[in-house]
Amino acid sequence: MPSFDVIIIGAGVAGYVAAIRAAQLGLKTAIVEISKTLGGTCLNTGCIPSKALLNSSHHFMFAKHGSAEHGVVVGDLKLDLAAMLKRKDKTVAQLTGGVAFLMKKNKVTTYFGHGVIEKPGFVNVKKADGASESLEAKHIIIATGSVPMALPFAPADGRVIVTSTEALSFEQVPGSLVVIGAGAIGLELGSVWARLGAKVDVIEFLPRIAVGFDADVSTALQKSLAAEGMKFHVDTKVTEVKVDGGRATVRATGKDGSELKFEADKVLMAVGRKPNLGGVAPESLGLTLDDKGCIKVDAHYRTNLPGVYAIGDIIAGPMLAHKAEEEGVACAEIIAGKAGHVNYDVVPNVIYTYPEAASAGIGEDQAKAEGRAVKVGKFPFKASGRALASDSSEGFVKIIAEAKTDRVLGAQILSPAASELIAEVVTLMEFHGSAEDLARTFHAHPTLSEATKEAALAVGGRAIHA
Ligand code: NAI
Repeated sequence: MPSFDVIIIGAGVAGYVAAIRAAQLGLKTAIVEISKTLGGTCLNTGCIPSKALLNSSHHFMFAKHGSAEHGVVVGDLKLDLAAMLKRKDKTVAQLTGGVAFLMKKNKVTTYFGHGVIEKPGFVNVKKADGASESLEAKHIIIATGSVPMALPFAPADGRVIVTSTEALSFEQVPGSLVVIGAGAIGLELGSVWARLGAKVDVIEFLPRIAVGFDADVSTALQKSLAAEGMKFHVDTKVTEVKVDGGRATVRATGKDGSELKFEADKVLMAVGRKPNLGGVAPESLGLTLDDKGCIKVDAHYRTNLPGVYAIGDIIAGPMLAHKAEEEGVACAEIIAGKAGHVNYDVVPNVIYTYPEAASAGIGEDQAKAEGRAVKVGKFPFKASGRALASDSSEGFVKIIAEAKTDRVLGAQILSPAASELIAEVVTLMEFHGSAEDLARTFHAHPTLSEATKEAALAVGGRAIHA
């Protein structure tokens, strides 16, 4: 029977990164994947294809509404959706193929099939052709990820009521799309189809969109997305979704009790994701779960089964690719006897709309709710020369610092470049830096990053350009 130091079940970002790190540390490593390609949700049906479509649809929007002002006149603009989808698929194929190459390069043995822990120390792989193979391992890492949730009365059928997976591949732009849930998935994919011409209604149960962010970020983002054509119904509860003749009727109730009715070609369920156990451990093994169905682990990613670890979306915490990736590295290092560690206080969070919303650490609203004494510095991009010169003047940077020590506790950024700008603050926070540190650091001129410096200066009431 093939024998390994580590077998990882699931080749998403948590799993394949853990495999590479384990191999780098000299461990004999195998990875088991049920899909035909490696890379999991992020590469195949999540982060990457959605970013490809966000990029393409942004170009379309720019050609339609923005380019003339730059003196770039586009005549007879038309959408070739098939080409757009083909480019997205090509990007995905390039990256999933890249992961396969990385497995080979690092001498990680890949098994395609359904991995099941027979008992601690043993994994069975059931292949598509019905054959099965047992493998032995000193350590097993479960990294089976998450799957979309649906409302109990409206299960996704993949045709009219869809999840993010199908919403990445509509063969034609839906005339009307109802998005249920204004989190990252609902806003990003709603935005793609709105830009391409769909009438998009977003229904959100909570009082505002993008609830993980400060209220001023949510409000400004909603305004920008509304200008892109999306219509928002917050504080609204979906009560019924009926499919008839290839179309859906969605009924919802507003906070004031008003009844709303939407007719739609497609309904996108974007109400969150849930851990995917996927039959990885038979009930008889007694793997302990928490009340949300996530696998319970200790600070070293150990489950209650000896030699069995779990990482990524399958355990508690934000379901984010970079969180999963860091856990993959830390878990492999712990198995190799090193001090793997993840700093959960500075996990960045990004919504890749236009503008993007990005945050790290605690927000102003959270600080206030917790009664923490903070100083807040805010700087608008409309006061940034580079932002004005490059059509990026929407949004702001906000730095939240501890009042007594000036230590940066968090940042919230709304900007077309927020996903990149947040990295500076994350690094600063890793080193327990202060607003003063940031304010006295060189930032090239002209750049959007100067707004981050100015927000840090604003913490001390001394922004230069506002
Ligand atoms: P989410 O949890 O971020 O947002 C779901 C939204 O749906 C919430 O605002 C919730 O209040 C709302 N909702 C729930 N039930 C509802 C109902 N019955 N009617 C109306 N609204 C309802 O979940 P989402 O957007 O589906 O994303 C799933 C996971 O994937 C999240 O952990 C997210 O962070 C992650 N993800 C991250 C991305 C990124 O980093 N850019 C991109 C896509 C997904």
